[in-house]
Amino acid sequence: MSGSTQREPSSDPTRSGNHERDDRPGTSGTHAPVPGRTAMTSVSASEAGQGAAPAAAHVRLEHVTKTFPAAGSGGRPLTALDDVSLEVSHGEVFGVVGHSGAGKSTLVRLINGLETPTAGRVYLGGRELTSLTERARREVRRDTGMIFQQFNLFRSRTVAGNVAYPLKVARVGQPERDRRVARLLDFVGLLDRAHDHPEQLSGGQKQRVGIARALATEPSLLLADEATSALDPQTTSEVLDLLRRANRNLGVTIVIITHELDVIQSIADRVAVLDGGRVVESGSLYDVFAQPRTEAAARIIGMALRDRPSAATLARLRLTHPGRIVTVRVRDRAAFQTALASTFLSHGVAAEIIFGGIGELQDRPVGSLTFELTGPDGAGGPDGAGAVDAAITALRADGVDVTEEPAEEG
Ligand SMILES: Nc1ncnc2c1ncn2[C@@H]1O[C@H](COP(=O)(O)OP(=O)(O)OP(=O)(O)O)[C@@H](O)[C@H]1O
Ligand SMILES: [Mg+2]
Repeated sequence: MSGSTQREPSSDPTRSGNHERDDRPGTSGTHAPVPGRTAMTSVSASEAGQGAAPAAAHVRLEHVTKTFPAAGSGGRPLTALDDVSLEVSHGEVFGVVGHSGAGKSTLVRLINGLETPTAGRVYLGGRELTSLTERARREVRRDTGMIFQQFNLFRSRTVAGNVAYPLKVARVGQPERDRRVARLLDFVGLLDRAHDHPEQLSGGQKQRVGIARALATEPSLLLADEATSALDPQTTSEVLDLLRRANRNLGVTIVIITHELDVIQSIADRVAVLDGGRVVESGSLYDVFAQPRTEAAARIIGMALRDRPSAATLARLRLTHPGRIVTVRVRDRAAFQTALASTFLSHGVAAEIIFGGIGELQDRPVGSLTFELTGPDGAGGPDGAGAVDAAITALRADGVDVTEEPAEEG
């Protein structure tokens, strides 16, 4: 039942925990040959402790809470995850985003079985982890690969030796091992570096070795905890390309956990936003990023898209723009901009774009535009019934997301 009993000797850099962004070794439960795409079919729902749903999600968390006991006397227990429920489907790339301390790595450690929930349940392929025998749990863990921010490679082994390691542990014979290592190194574009040692590689190359190692036993699930956070943008995008190929060509389900919104935006199909140990929002990448429903998610996501003027920017804008200031969220509605223009026109409202921009997310437009609105009779009429109010009301009735920016503070 206890997470710590699942640990293998910690000298193995492919195993044990990694909840902080440090150089400690991390987990890779990839220790047996499992036939890629079809791997999870061997993990059927029949063994599930708690009546699994017929079409089980690949990963499912049900009201999971994780509380760490107080450190020392007088300390207070710390709830790292608070009633978290989420589902990751087979074959998707699921992103988890949140600030430092939000509980992201704790979530990873619950999925790979290194921690057990204080309350709630974690299912992998329909099997509830804590209900499994140690043997079954090992089998499930073998089907999960891990990659880390600090790569966690053996310094004393060659590139090929690092990739071969989990195969050795899984007792794959030498000829087959060599074949697989060559295939994996070819897959990550490092065949010509097979005999180099990690210190001879760049960060991006090290992470590609990390990915090859994680895929060595053909896991159906790959967990990436801040896997690109130590890399520059160009290298990050190369590593993300590789993960995308693993997902598309090998059918590996990927859970990618990061504080980097760009990473999530470029690779995830669906996302969960974690804040203070709670999932404040989850859904398709586009829905969550283009149209966050909660303030917490908007705060976390808005920061990266820079689509709402900050308080300081707003104060500066107000110096030259005395009218009402509203921000309109841009979505992929047909004729969105025409609708805006015609609404302002028909209400006799002058609208000047003073801030914002439109980008793209999954090939769909996303962003926001901040307008200064001035009615024909000044800034909107004496009792809120003026042209500006009418225009805002009309836009909202039309489904446009309009936020009036708060009036200047004292
Ligand atoms: N083993 C532990 N014992 C006590 N507290 C822990 C433990 N692991 C994590 N925590 C606490 O739980 C909270 C969440 O930590 P976690 O490492 O999951 O955050 P994170 O989102 O991964 O942060 P970062 O982006 O900095 O990696 C933090 O307050 C952390 O100090
Ligand atoms: Mg972390």
